[in-house]
Amino acid sequence: MKRSFSSFIHLRRCFLVVMILFALSSVVKAQLSTDFYQQTCPNLLKIVRTEVQNAIKSEMRMAASLLRLHFHDCFVNGCDASILLDLPDGEKSAFPNVNSARGFEVIDAIKSSVESACSGVVSCTDILTIAARDSVVLSGGNSWKVLLGRRDGFVANQTGANVGLPSPFDTLDVIISKFANVGLNVTDVVALSGAHTIGLARCATFSNRLFNFQGTGGPDSTLDSSMATDLQNLCPVTSDGNNTAVLDRNSRDLFDNHYFQNLLTGKGLLSSDQLLISSDLADTTSIKSLVQSYSSNSNLFLADFANSMIKMGSISPLTGSAGEIRKNCRVVNS
Ligand code: HEM
Ligand SMILES: *[C@@H]1O[C@H](CO)[C@@H](O)[C@H](O)[C@H]1NC(C)=O
Ligand SMILES: *[C@@H]1O[C@H](CO)[C@@H](O)[C@H](O)[C@H]1NC(C)=O
Ligand SMILES: *[C@@H]1O[C@H](CO)[C@@H](O)[C@H](O)[C@H]1NC(C)=O
Repeated sequence: MKRSFSSFIHLRRCFLVVMILFALSSVVKAQLSTDFYQQTCPNLLKIVRTEVQNAIKSEMRMAASLLRLHFHDCFVNGCDASILLDLPDGEKSAFPNVNSARGFEVIDAIKSSVESACSGVVSCTDILTIAARDSVVLSGGNSWKVLLGRRDGFVANQTGANVGLPSPFDTLDVIISKFANVGLNVTDVVALSGAHTIGLARCATFSNRLFNFQGTGGPDSTLDSSMATDLQNLCPVTSDGNNTAVLDRNSRDLFDNHYFQNLLTGKGLLSSDQLLISSDLADTTSIKSLVQSYSSNSNLFLADFANSMIKMGSISPLTGSAGEIRKNCRVVNS
């Protein structure tokens, strides 16, 4: 009787230990980690790096385009590769992406190399996350350890893209609230805006500043006047808005802090860029002083940028058994 009672206690204890281990393992599984594919795809990082390198070799701008794709993925329904889906009412045709988002063929090429090495285990959204990091590094920015283990979603959300992604015509308070909606604070707003140290923007995204800004009959007074003249020539009123200007006139392909130096001299390209220093709200928050710090301290910017990228890459990931590992990044598995 005594023996069976003590073995009952023993059994209960074992059961408890097993339950705790089980609970712990499911917690661990639900988190992103740097070694997620260590067993299942040990060469993943090498494969992605090589593919991004190839893409950039044929077109340097691709670094910027891949970085932006990751941002536009994560801000809409979390990082779930929703932007990659080819659907008639998908995110690709949302205002911020149509005739604008690019790099989809490069993601296809990376996915295909990854599938050849380790079939069916690496998500498209993780590939996008690694490609964004590599794009920054290959453009001269700091590296960071990429957290992995996101899974791909089943839906795209065009409305989510239209309302959730910041617009170059937004006021600073709207931009701050769009970042806050996905758990990012004003430090993240300023640091991540520094991504505009590389890449291009179409006239359509800034030409409102050039001729009759807010009914003033002239260009935006916060825009440097010789830069305004250049841009007026690039983007005449009669043009289709498809010409492009570099976001950082100082060093278009280099990932550095020149974006912030430009803002100090009225050389931010988008209205949303220049507002980080010219708006009243930038003055009354830590935003303006952060722009000043980044403009004079490149290491601080590069370190903060890396931190904010890790935060952005952690927006509402699908983990564990949620979502799926897409075979083709453009379509959900049947
Ligand atoms: C703060 C709010 C932001 C606004 C309003 C904004 C807006 C824009 C616009 C209008 C363009 C040009 C698009 C076109 O020509 O069609 C652009 C380009 C770009 N954006 Fe942003 N953006 C913001 C934040 C970010 C963030 C957080 C990142 C990444 C971390 C980013 C990365 C880029 C890059 C790299 C390009 C150049 C893309 C290329 O050359 O293909 N942007 N952005
Ligand atoms: C799409 O995004 C909107 C805005 O973020 C959200 O309210 C809605 O639930 C999303 N829809 C789907 C199907 O995820
Ligand atoms: C934003 O969040 C980071 C941590 O993710 C923190 O270090 C930073 O101080 C925060 N910035 C503000 C202005 O609260
Ligand atoms: C701008 O270029 C895109 C293709 O990238 C084209 O579909 C669009 O019609 C062009 N816009 C205008 C106004 O011509």
